[in-house]
Amino acid sequence: MSKLEQLPAWRALQARRTAHPLPVLRTLFRNDPARAARMQASACGITLDYSKNLLGEDEFALLLALVDEVGLAARVQAMFAGERINSTEARAALHVALRSPADARWAVGEVDVAAEVHAVLTRMRAFCERVRSGEWRGHRGGHITDVVNIGIGGSDLGPAMVCEALADCADSGLRMHFVSNVDGVQIRDVMRRCPPESTLFVVASKTFTTQETLANAHAARAWLVGALGDEAAVGAHFVAVSTNAAAVEAFGIDSANMFGFWDWVGGRFSLWSAIGLPIMLALGPARFDALLAGAHAMDEHFRSAPAALNLPVLMALIGIWNVNFLDASSQLIAPYHQRLHRLPAYLQQLDMESNGKSVRHDGAPVGVRTAPVLWGEQGINGQHAYFQLVHQGTQPVPVDFIGVLDAGREDEGLHRIAFANLVAQAEALMRGRSADEAEAEMCAAGLPAARIRALLPHRVFSGNRPSNTLLLERLDPFMLGALIAAYEHRTFVQGVIWDINSFDQWGVELGKQLAARVLGELDPLAPQAGEDAHDASTRGLVERYRAHLRSSV
Ligand code: F6P
Repeated sequence: MSKLEQLPAWRALQARRTAHPLPVLRTLFRNDPARAARMQASACGITLDYSKNLLGEDEFALLLALVDEVGLAARVQAMFAGERINSTEARAALHVALRSPADARWAVGEVDVAAEVHAVLTRMRAFCERVRSGEWRGHRGGHITDVVNIGIGGSDLGPAMVCEALADCADSGLRMHFVSNVDGVQIRDVMRRCPPESTLFVVASKTFTTQETLANAHAARAWLVGALGDEAAVGAHFVAVSTNAAAVEAFGIDSANMFGFWDWVGGRFSLWSAIGLPIMLALGPARFDALLAGAHAMDEHFRSAPAALNLPVLMALIGIWNVNFLDASSQLIAPYHQRLHRLPAYLQQLDMESNGKSVRHDGAPVGVRTAPVLWGEQGINGQHAYFQLVHQGTQPVPVDFIGVLDAGREDEGLHRIAFANLVAQAEALMRGRSADEAEAEMCAAGLPAARIRALLPHRVFSGNRPSNTLLLERLDPFMLGALIAAYEHRTFVQGVIWDINSFDQWGVELGKQLAARVLGELDPLAPQAGEDAHDASTRGLVERYRAHLRSSV
């Protein structure tokens, strides 16, 4: 039995789960008129309603006790103090320093992190103002009309998601494009749409060794040089964001056009760093500052609010209850706002790359289930696709409904329809439809008794399906920053409870190594890989591709 399973609160939670039937939400709401008001928390313009979770008072109290028993306060302090909490890479995880005010004091070892962060922000602002104002010129003297971010994972998902989410306040007129896939299709589409003489490429890679990003960057560079007929054009059309200055220079980008960050910024926590350059280009420095301010406000809430009122802690505890005590193996993210449609993909990396682990800090097996499969897309489309399973499937799928109160530039009447659907879905999942209710409905519709009997099992919804509802007052840079930071801290808290390192990602390495080897073997002129190089299936797939290449020359 793992250390976690031996904690008194964990054992008590398990005992309750075994000894008591799950609470029935309809009954909880009926018997406790204050439940909804009590099971809410707000911070930074975001309200979390967690009352539609299968938690009674006792379970909730035990989850709060767990926070103390795992020593969360000390772990939070260690993160904010810049301790090397990413133990396997011996690094701090100090993304919170990226969004703190200029006069804050942060240190990693002897280094004054705050000064470095703000020095880069100052350079980013100056550069973005030049591009946005038209002062920055392309090789042929024209101003920039299109920005193409080339990156993948954390060097793509954050900027892409935020640029989309805040597109309504983008005022630069710049057209933003994101290329991450290396299959050639995405970059070709971008090349078709972008005029080379007015396109700026941002090559974003923390390591600057990522195969997909470098291959796409080389393709973009060849296209640009080919179109403008001059190697020297690269200087005016390429900038880089990286921690690896040597590799950036080797690629041919002047270090004056490189924006740096640091090894203590994890890729999936990096949109607040220079990785956010496309965001600043699209929205301007003031709105980027507001995004940082929103995240900082959530950081302050996270480190100071008591657990029972702490948004990220509550979100984490509910997740722990769902995963470890209700056996939920997935988590649906359902934003009811078109602009947030990339949020699930962003959160997927944040959560699954952080907590998709099976060993603890000390290398021993975790012993309990860790991160669920996080998935989703904007909720309205989901309702007409996979919500059937969420309502009547055989497995519990907890949902985070995310809504926005202010319609902004949207038509309020249309926005209201989306909001009504959000509320209705959460209610339907919670209350379900009993056999009596289903029968009464069919009787009222005049169905014959035999038909009612046949249809009844299909028309019953068990209900009692858990969800959170997160409401943002507005979709603006501040609140989006706060929302993202809330999810970041939620992921961190769950990592603390499971005692795993949320900041490394060794699981992605093996595939990368094998891909490099397979790439060499796919060359039809390369000798065939030896019998023992791969299993028969892998060898067969490689041979199939080589044969295809041979037959198509
Ligand atoms: O392969 C996973 C990963 O390392 C992510 O953690 C990271 O966000 C992404 O690849 C991109 O890495 P880089 O920014 O170094 O190109």
